[in-house]
Amino acid sequence: MSSEASEKIESVLKETRLFPPPAEFVEQAHISSEEKYQEMWNRAKDQPAEFWGETAGNLHWFKKFDTVLEGEMPNTKWFTGGKINACYNCVDRHLHTWRKNKAAIIWEGEPGDTRVLTYQDLHREVSKFANVLKKLGVTTGDRVTLYMPMIPELAIAMLACSRIGATHSIIFGGFSADAVADRNNDAQSKLVITADAGWRRGKEVPLKTAVDESLEKSPSVEKVVVVRRTGAEVTMVDDRDYWWHELMEDVSADCEAVELESEHPLFILYTSGSTGKPKGVLHTTAGYLLGATMTSRWVFDLKEEDTYWCTADIGWITGHSYIVYGPLSNGATTIMYEGAPNWPDEGRFWEIVEKYQVNIFYTAPTAIRAFIKWGDEFPNKYDLSSLRLLGTVGEPINPKAWMWYYEIIGGERCPIVDTWWQTETGGCLITNLAGITPAKASWATLPLPGVQPVLVDEEGNEAKPAPTADGAVITSGNLCMKAPWPGILRTTWGDHDRCRQTYFSTYKDLYFTGDGALRDENGNYRITGRVDDVLNVSGHRIGTAEVENAINMHAGVIESAVVGYPHDIKGQGIYAYIIAEGVKPEDEERQRQNILQTVTRIIGPIAKPDKIQFVNGLPKTRSGKIMRRILRKIAEGQTDNLGDTSTLLDPAVVETIAKGKV
Ligand code: PRX
Repeated sequence: MSSEASEKIESVLKETRLFPPPAEFVEQAHISSEEKYQEMWNRAKDQPAEFWGETAGNLHWFKKFDTVLEGEMPNTKWFTGGKINACYNCVDRHLHTWRKNKAAIIWEGEPGDTRVLTYQDLHREVSKFANVLKKLGVTTGDRVTLYMPMIPELAIAMLACSRIGATHSIIFGGFSADAVADRNNDAQSKLVITADAGWRRGKEVPLKTAVDESLEKSPSVEKVVVVRRTGAEVTMVDDRDYWWHELMEDVSADCEAVELESEHPLFILYTSGSTGKPKGVLHTTAGYLLGATMTSRWVFDLKEEDTYWCTADIGWITGHSYIVYGPLSNGATTIMYEGAPNWPDEGRFWEIVEKYQVNIFYTAPTAIRAFIKWGDEFPNKYDLSSLRLLGTVGEPINPKAWMWYYEIIGGERCPIVDTWWQTETGGCLITNLAGITPAKASWATLPLPGVQPVLVDEEGNEAKPAPTADGAVITSGNLCMKAPWPGILRTTWGDHDRCRQTYFSTYKDLYFTGDGALRDENGNYRITGRVDDVLNVSGHRIGTAEVENAINMHAGVIESAVVGYPHDIKGQGIYAYIIAEGVKPEDEERQRQNILQTVTRIIGPIAKPDKIQFVNGLPKTRSGKIMRRILRKIAEGQTDNLGDTSTLLDPAVVETIAKGKV
């Protein structure tokens, strides 16, 4: 084990307090005993076809499947022979129950406007918009790009796509025009749905302008639908651009949900990896929906009367699975908030919790760290007593943030589920179950039924447990999965070999997550973070190669190397070492600003480096490989502990870089 890894283990293990689930919670939980969990887990492992076959009974099928699982990873097919529709499951099936007039989506706009859509309202809007899509020439199998603010029309558009079997590709509103064009081209999208602009901290984010620019480079797109949100002035191109509200005026609200094959492509979601080009992760209908539905129930203990709020943006997988598909398929009430947590002040989230009496609240560690910084006075102003369960996702949560969340938001009453998963997994895989698992700050704990984790060393051998300094016995390794689960990604769009190479070829017969993890003697998992060149900045996945590519596009830049470093709020910050032509010390600041603009233009503001250091050379091995380990140490401020530099082509370069650290 490297010294870096063992230091990490020691610091993680310092927090040992256990928080057992409160008795009142256990009494009512969906999964309320360790025996029940164990029985489910064993059954899913030993008799997967029976377990998942029965579990699939929680979905509505037009035609029942013939086979539960066919093929081996990465070529698995689930529920073949079945006919199903995700939109029907999320909307129509509730219309035949008392839920027809239950709030499906409670939406709050950043300026304070609100909208409530009952299941019946949602059905009408979705059916109408599905007819609009058809009128614009979209048919089953086409790809549609959604580049929208967090407004109800986003959920409506997603569901309308799945209703007619069009595959949606949602792009987070913080990505640039260039990023939109790349994704449009990769997916060969036919239609883009956007808004004039979105609200963010009282300012307008000009989405339509970005779409206009992206269309100069993405010829597959034939038409654009624009929601009027802020009233921002936009250019509408004849026979290409249409207003949402005008299109919705004269369409019928009758539109049957199409009976689709189980493996019909539901959506593509682009995510970063260790190469410069984001991958289009493909999820298909039945398996993904089953995962999102069941994990919503098992993990968030979702009940009929709950008001549930996941604060993610639908532009990321968390919003897909746990704002839209999972909660709605369960007939739940899901809250959607458009804006920033600190607008008009830092109490906005807690005001929403009080206003709607939220019961289940799911957010990211980076947000929790920002709340801590803003001060307890904001949550303390509001009545948070409706909360009964809290969740976190997106990155390892540090014990300090966990304790604050537990005490200040949860009033030491609410269990916290630390949910580990990925865009590729479709839904949660490792998480505590609020009714049975004693929570331990920063431990995601148990694999869900159907999830068979294994920790391996660099060679792919199963990692061995080892005693630590304080007497615990811990296994440390790279986190892989031995068996497929229904929501596993099916491919990377247009390039199945890339999918195989990225996830299924590092270790034989295993799905490799890209994360490192620890396991304790009781089988609980603690995720330690990415072991590849992927950063996790404020819970957003960003590839170092992607940022380097963007920096290298800047005039005068010869080479760059990007690494992550610990950041108090963001979890990881981006540190860029750049070799650029003729940068004089007095020009450095201006050059930095210009480079930031280039990165914003090519990827978006989320990928902007926090620190830029201009250097004359990078530490490279004799074979030309950049030694990122050294650059990471320097970025972390550990300049006196750089390890062995003797294999470097020019060891002196390291000293110069360390001296110039910003
Ligand atoms: O490194 C892990 C981290 O986020 C990565 C997945 O990112 P993304 O596909 O964008 O999905 C984020 C939301 C599911 C993982 O490889 N991660 C996610 N959840 C946790 C986590 N790390 C530690 N603990 C978690 N609970």
